[in-house]
Amino acid sequence: MEESTKQPGPEFVAIAIDGPAASGKSSVARSLAKKLGYLYVNSGSLYRAMTWVFLKQGIPTEPGDAVRGFLKGLDINCGARDGASTVRIDGEDPGDELQSQDVNRNVSAVSAIPEVRELLVAKLVAYRELDNIVMEGRDIGSVVLPDTPYKFYIDASQEVRDRRRRDQGQRDEIRERDQRDSSRAASPLVVAPDARVIDTTKMTVEEVVQEILSELRGKGLDLDS
Ligand code: DC
Repeated sequence: MEESTKQPGPEFVAIAIDGPAASGKSSVARSLAKKLGYLYVNSGSLYRAMTWVFLKQGIPTEPGDAVRGFLKGLDINCGARDGASTVRIDGEDPGDELQSQDVNRNVSAVSAIPEVRELLVAKLVAYRELDNIVMEGRDIGSVVLPDTPYKFYIDASQEVRDRRRRDQGQRDEIRERDQRDSSRAASPLVVAPDARVIDTTKMTVEEVVQEILSELRGKGLDLDS
């Protein structure tokens, strides 16, 4: 991890934002983090980076001895730059490859491997020691940050989510990915029981951010310090 100017301690605030693919959670989490001056942590980029390296090295995307041995030899460096999380594997930054069609197609299979999750959840939990954070993903409120009182689940209708992903110019079978992410045995996409659910179908990013800020104030979080 890179150096932070803040002193580590239990006073760090962690905000969890979960939701299905193309729900708008990345835009919301990034904008919220910027407004608050918190670090934005995109957990999906870790699973994407892992998928990228599996594909690059021809590792089977299923549990087994080959995967366990492969994971042991990997150097995964999670840090932060310009207010956002970064990831390098064996010294390489996957860059735009994180959004490739091949990664989109295989990321749910790689994310379902328990050993992959164990390794990446530990990396994600370590961000708590670094700074105040807004972390987005699938299991953040349920598994990565279960103790935070600040949990949100961002959703939108299937049609709107299909359109949002198409508008980003990406080929991504989000229905299939959501089905696999929700039905896997290891920490599936779920709504944490204490999460505030926001249906963003008819909302702009700014409206969602304002709703989250008002909920945070309602919970007594001091947003001005
Ligand atoms: O947020 P995203 O669409 O970039 O995530 C890509 C994939 O990574 C998603 O289909 C499932 C996996 N993922 C996960 O299993 N757990 C997370 N906390 C975040 C992402």
